[in-house]
Amino acid sequence: MTLRLDSTETGIATAARLLREGGLVAFGTETVYGLGADATQPQAVARIFEAKNRPRFNPLISHFADADAAFEQVEASPLTRRLAEAFWPGPLTLVLPRAAGCTVSDLAADGLSTLAVRVPRGDVAAALLRQTGRPVAAPSANRSGRISPSNAAHVLEELDGRIDAVLDSGPCAIGLESTVLDLSQPDRPCLLRPGGVTVEALEALCGPLLRPATQSDAAPLSPGRMLSHYAPGLPVRLDVHTPRADEALLAFGPQDGSSPAAMLWNLSESGNLEEAAARLFSGLRALDHAGTARHLRGIAVQPIPAHGLGLAIQDRLTRAAAPRPSSANPKENTLP
Ligand code: TXA
Ligand code: MG
Repeated sequence: MTLRLDSTETGIATAARLLREGGLVAFGTETVYGLGADATQPQAVARIFEAKNRPRFNPLISHFADADAAFEQVEASPLTRRLAEAFWPGPLTLVLPRAAGCTVSDLAADGLSTLAVRVPRGDVAAALLRQTGRPVAAPSANRSGRISPSNAAHVLEELDGRIDAVLDSGPCAIGLESTVLDLSQPDRPCLLRPGGVTVEALEALCGPLLRPATQSDAAPLSPGRMLSHYAPGLPVRLDVHTPRADEALLAFGPQDGSSPAAMLWNLSESGNLEEAAARLFSGLRALDHAGTARHLRGIAVQPIPAHGLGLAIQDRLTRAAAPRPSSANPKENTLP
C-alpha cells in the first residue's frame, strides 16, 4: 500500500519518519519527483533499485536541505562553493570527490569515489530533508527507462504499491531533471547531463565546459546518458515539420491550424522554453496514452531550438526517440 501524504506538517513529519526507518518515499522537487531513501542505509537504497527495476550500475544523487549538509559528504573546492552559492537551492547536481567521513553507502554511490550532491528548491523538499537529517538518495520516481514524473499522480501510475508513500507537493515547477556537472577534476568541469540550469549560466561562472560527446568515458560514469531513456510506448520521430495523419504531434510554438496530425499537445504556444520544459514529460505521457488508445503510429515532435533549456529538452527527446535496449543487455544502448 502506498500512502498519499499531503504537504502539511503532519504529512512531512510522517514522510521523514518513514525515510529514517528505511522506507521509500517519493517527494516533489522543482525538477521532477524523486524516489527517496536514506542514503546511509544500504538496504533502503537497495529497495530503490528494486522498486524502479533499475540496473544496479546507476549511481544516485544524494539530496540535502542546504549546502553545509552537502559539503559534509564531499570535498568542496572554491569553484564548487561559488556554484553552490549561485545555483543552490536549484536544479544543479555536482559530482565531487567523496569526503573522508562520507556516510553515504557504497550502494548509493555505486562504489564510485565520487558522489553526486544536490540541494533542491522548494519548501516541502527542504523541510523533508531537514527533518530526515540524513542524505536522501533519490532518482526520478519512475520505473527504469520510462518518463520522469512531474506530479504525484504520475508517481502513483509508475510505482503504486511498490513504495511506502508519496509526499504530494503539487506539480514540479521546472519539470525536467537537474543539470549534472562533474567537478571531480577541478580544472576540467564536465557536463554529464543538460538540465534545469543552462550551459550558458554555468559557463559564465566556470568557463567552457567539456561536453559528454567530446569525452567518451563520461557515458559509463553517467548512466542517465543511456540512450533509450524516458521512453514512451509509442515510437518518437524528431524534428518533424509535417506530421502524418496517424501521428500525435508534440508541437512547439504558434500553430496555424493546418497540421494533419490526429492530435496535438503544444509544449509552448508562445515558444517559451521554460514553459516547454515544464510541460515536456506531461505532454509525452498524454500523447502516449491517448495515441495508444487511438492506435496511432507514433509521436512526431516539432523542432526545438538548441539554446538555453532547449538543449535539455532535445536531450530528453533524443532518448525518447532512441531504439530501445534489449533487457538482456541494457548497456548496449549507451551513447559512445
Ligand atoms: O532533477 C534530478 O536530478 C532528479 C531529482 C529527483 O533530484 N533526480 C534524478 O536522478 O534525475 P537520476 O538518478 O534519474 O539521475 C541521476 C544522474 C544519472 O545520470 C547518474 O548517472 C548521474 O546523475 N550520477 C549520479 N552519481 C554520479 C557520479 N558519482 N558520477 C557521475 N554521474 C553520476
Ligand atoms: Mg531518471
